[in-house]
Amino acid sequence: MQPFHTIIEPFRIKSVEALKFTTRQERAAALEQARYNVFRLAGDDVLIDLLTDSGTGAMSAAQWGALIQGDETYAGSRSFFRFEKTVRGLTGFTHIIPTHQGRAAERILFHTVLQPGDIVPNNNHFDTTRANIEVEDAEARDLVVAEGRQPSTVRPFKGNMDVAALEATLERDGDRIPLVMVTVTNNSGGGQPVSMANLRAVRAICDRYRKPFFLDACRFAENAWFIKSREDGYATRTPRDIAREMFSLADGCTMSAKKDGLSNIGGFLAMNSDDWAERCRNLLILTEGFPTYGGLAGYDLEAIARGLEEVVEEPYLKYRVRSTEYLAEKVSAEGVPIILPAGGHAVYIDARALLPHIPPLQYPGVALVNALYVEAGVRGVEIGTVMFGLRADGSESPAAMDLVRLAIPRRVYTQSHIDYVAEAVIYVAKERDALRGYRIVSAPTSLRHFTAEFEPMRQP
Ligand code: F0G
Repeated sequence: MQPFHTIIEPFRIKSVEALKFTTRQERAAALEQARYNVFRLAGDDVLIDLLTDSGTGAMSAAQWGALIQGDETYAGSRSFFRFEKTVRGLTGFTHIIPTHQGRAAERILFHTVLQPGDIVPNNNHFDTTRANIEVEDAEARDLVVAEGRQPSTVRPFKGNMDVAALEATLERDGDRIPLVMVTVTNNSGGGQPVSMANLRAVRAICDRYRKPFFLDACRFAENAWFIKSREDGYATRTPRDIAREMFSLADGCTMSAKKDGLSNIGGFLAMNSDDWAERCRNLLILTEGFPTYGGLAGYDLEAIARGLEEVVEEPYLKYRVRSTEYLAEKVSAEGVPIILPAGGHAVYIDARALLPHIPPLQYPGVALVNALYVEAGVRGVEIGTVMFGLRADGSESPAAMDLVRLAIPRRVYTQSHIDYVAEAVIYVAKERDALRGYRIVSAPTSLRHFTAEFEPMRQP
């Protein structure tokens, strides 16, 4: 054992991008102009952008080098075959269908296999997954284990599917369930991992009810790292090997390569079923592109193929999960309520617990996000009642939790950036009594969080 404990960033920096500093007054004006919705801000007005870990990572020199190898042949591109070989080697699935990002894979899969009235069980659906199911007049049903809905309960695998609830759902409504999904890691539930034992149990139930089992695999490598560090029997296995075992339990997956593909754009749909794959490819041609590029450039396919190799490297995953945990420890030590343990890609602040004077229907998550931006130029995102509180009939109810997610882009920020973020969160938490709720002035009926306009409430 070496005598040093500091986990360093496992890379050095070859190219940098300057940050733009703004004053508090400038940020307050920018937020007002953005109708109090941080999605509407110009990125240049943000100092540290933790809105998402999606597509915002830094690609490696090897990935940038791979771009120039991109083969832009319309049909049968060499870059596709390289991409296909890498994805097949990792997942073991027969059919590898590139898409421009994760939600395109979701749309193609769900439009192909869902009928109105169908149900898709999942631990927790992410917003685009849910929306792509609901647009088919089907139901996205969340069946995460109970502790997955309790922010402060510390358990190793809070992303697990409640297998008893899954079984009951299949028993009652099996004929309306064309597939079962599990999201790794569970983004809407705090970036929490799913254990191999749980995936195995879901597989067994799917076998019993003869249902295909798909992974939403966006953060499969982070999930593999959690299995390695938390689940008995996996400590000496490589993350790649663990990931392969995870995929081997499923019949297919949807994937956003903007997360654990370490790429700025891209995704794929993969599966073993010949019949479903043929129907999905036909839809792909209609809306994304020919099956050997699926809406991507040849060079994107190269970057993803390389990214999928780098993402399962141990030094990378060790640094990745530790740097998120570092932020969680700092804010938690000062009494800021967060989802514990830390997620893989993000720290989730429990805004409902932090701001008990702001009722869920006045959006405590938005209040906290906006204060973090105005005070420190840090942009997070509400994952709560704005994102999930609108029902199909137009009425509104509190979401299960009101969270603020601080998502960490991959390989982008250093430890001092994270120290600054921690200081900002602690500062805003101390000023919590001054924060006010919001009301929605205008919003669309689906995925309203992206474009809604808000107005601050006059009274707390
Ligand atoms: N599934 C999960 C679990 C996700 O987190 C995302 C995206 C998607 C599917 C859709 O992928 O963006 O490539 O179309 N999550 C991003 C986020 C947007 O900020 O968490 P996409």
